[in-house]
Amino acid sequence: MMQLALEGDVVSSEDPKLEIIVLAAGQGSRMRSHKPKVLHRLAGKPLLEHVLDTARALSPAAIHVVVGHGAEAVQAAVSATDLSFHQQTEQLGTGHAVSCALPSCHPDARVLVLFGDVPLMSGETLARLIERAADGPALLAAQLSEPAGYGRVLRDAAGNFAAVVEHADASAEQRTIKEVNTGVLVAPAELLGTLLAEVNNNNAQGEYYLPDALTQAVQRNIPVQLVVTGDAVEITGVNDRAQLQSLERAFQTRLADGLMADGVGVVDRLRIDIRGELQCGRDVEIDVNAVFEGQVVLGDGVKVGPNCLLKDAVVGPDTDIQAFCHIEGAAIGAGCRIGPYARLRPGTDLGAAARVGNFVETKNSVLGPGSKANHLAYIGDAEIGADSNVGAGTITCNYDGVDKHPTRIGDGVFVGSNSTLVAPVTLSDHSFVAAGSVVTEDVPEDQLALGRARQRNVSGWTPPGRKED
Ligand code: UD1
Ligand code: CA
Repeated sequence: MMQLALEGDVVSSEDPKLEIIVLAAGQGSRMRSHKPKVLHRLAGKPLLEHVLDTARALSPAAIHVVVGHGAEAVQAAVSATDLSFHQQTEQLGTGHAVSCALPSCHPDARVLVLFGDVPLMSGETLARLIERAADGPALLAAQLSEPAGYGRVLRDAAGNFAAVVEHADASAEQRTIKEVNTGVLVAPAELLGTLLAEVNNNNAQGEYYLPDALTQAVQRNIPVQLVVTGDAVEITGVNDRAQLQSLERAFQTRLADGLMADGVGVVDRLRIDIRGELQCGRDVEIDVNAVFEGQVVLGDGVKVGPNCLLKDAVVGPDTDIQAFCHIEGAAIGAGCRIGPYARLRPGTDLGAAARVGNFVETKNSVLGPGSKANHLAYIGDAEIGADSNVGAGTITCNYDGVDKHPTRIGDGVFVGSNSTLVAPVTLSDHSFVAAGSVVTEDVPEDQLALGRARQRNVSGWTPPGRKED
């Protein structure tokens, strides 16, 4: 099995001096949403959760999250015992936000600042930055072909860091600079506190800018190390929905490329979505518009047809999932055929070579090896043995309005079309249910159940409205 890790790929032992401050108090007004920006999702996970996972992978001594706009919702969405939350009641800028958490950091700590709206920062890049910040502040910059909106990095004649000028404050000439501030920096806690105390808000946005703390450092002859990354995806901040969409696509195509590098056949790298973790065996083939959520495992030779959603599912080798299937919380054996248009709900467990066909819904049910429900059926709270056949239009009446009841179907049972199995009920091995039956009583082994009115043909009958000759 190959595994595709989403992020947090750097694992180190705990760094007792490292503390991380994650800024997540901003409103994100450019999203035009009631939801706080950091709770918008990328690859199915809130932006902030991506950042927290990256932070955790660095094994810091503490993670501080600065919340403000929608604080309660943000805190509820990500709360965990390894996080401490700090309120920034008024959003006065990124510098101000850091000073809301800084008093809680150990004075000897090295503080890494991450932005809650920059979700894909790589662990390797951060490790590189932390290494360069051994003796003083270090800032992560990036070279972007389209730097609009970002703070630009100004260097002195010797090429050393001089300052960051925000886009809103930059001159036309400064706006041609393609080296930008990613927002990520590392600095000794005590020094950062001293520098931030010097920062004012005399600028276009009337905010206390975090990068201005580094300008203060330069003025005190404290050098600021610059680490530059060329990876536009990892440093992209999400400010509006268009940026969120393009970052999602960039991330997904990376995942698709990773799958293909591992030998998975992906029909179109622009039409696959992985919102969780996908493990694939050899020679898996994934057609267009497949969506994977939660933890999904596909065995060797599995085929996923177009427009399928699989969530928290394990699929055995050589199983064929045909177009338009919705599969959630299911364990599917080897060599099964599912769909087209099948819905497998949580608790579905299919044995080898089982078949679930079009417009069949299963829930909390076992279909043994070789059993089939090929068309238009509802199978809920049922346990079906091997090699049984559930005919078209059959339903298990598992719910009486108050309680759920089980249906037990043995091996080699044949349930004729359009049967209604009123649970609790048992159809023993090799029993046979005549089409159209309402089965309310158990059927013993090898017996035929006929649960329908006998057909009566009426001769000489005149349909209403037709005149007699
Ligand atoms: C910021 C940087 C800019 C950089 C860019 C990179 C500043 C002043 N500007 O700009 O140089 O190029 O990020 O993406 O730092 N936040 C708070 N409290 C506040 C303000 C912001 O917690 O009072 C949080 C936001 O929730 C967000 C992050 O800080 O997660 C960045 O804020 P945002 O307003 O998006 O800054 P940018 O304008 O993108
Ligand atoms: Ca931003």
